[in-house]
Amino acid sequence: MTIHIGAKPGQIAETVLMPGDPYRAKWAAQTFLENPELVNETRGMLGYTGTWRGHSVTIQGSGMGMPSLSIYANELIRDFGAKTLIRIGSCGGMQDKVKIRDVIVAMTASSFSTPSSGIFRELNFAPCADWSLLQAAVLAAEARKVPTHVGGIYSADVFYDERPDLNEQMIRHGILGVEMEAAELYNLAARYGVRALALLTVSDHLITHEALPAEDREKSFGDMVEIALEAAFA
Ligand code: ADE
Repeated sequence: MTIHIGAKPGQIAETVLMPGDPYRAKWAAQTFLENPELVNETRGMLGYTGTWRGHSVTIQGSGMGMPSLSIYANELIRDFGAKTLIRIGSCGGMQDKVKIRDVIVAMTASSFSTPSSGIFRELNFAPCADWSLLQAAVLAAEARKVPTHVGGIYSADVFYDERPDLNEQMIRHGILGVEMEAAELYNLAARYGVRALALLTVSDHLITHEALPAEDREKSFGDMVEIALEAAFA
């Protein structure tokens, strides 16, 4: 048991899927895992452990933003021994070729700052995905014929960003989408020598201003959960 995760020793699997939304964790665990057991409800940040094709898997909410994800990922890695962490989240599309419902596999995650900025100071560390997970996720997405893009994303500190030229520069530099957690997940994975990947379903679009209708969210999210599970155990 840690400050933020009430699970008992042994109740967290080495493979952890991390949606931002705790209710997505509940839905994904009840939909894709066998015998899902609630292992954390501290602060309502639900976590479940069950099995998938015989493998033990935990699905733990991370909350929104890097400071929140950092708390859960630190405790999962350092106190519970998590070795493979896959963010399963949503993002805003930032290129014309990226459509609503597409999946983005985040090769790198740019940011202005992360909770690790204090360690890196003037260094612009380049947070990147684990290659074995990235490759396996791309193959799994291709096999499922899910439209997928692989490349750089941007992990923002603010959802309602008012800086006028920011999106323009991101788009110009080929950034595929914006979310708020991946860069710190990649920093922590590098620091502790574990594997991490961020998979993101495009839920809204910064160029077209489309948004995924609420009734379509589960199906689109479900493809991504299955890709994450297949990649984790490839
Ligand atoms: N997550 C989903 N859509 C987003 C957006 N437009 N900005 C930041 N995070 C997001």
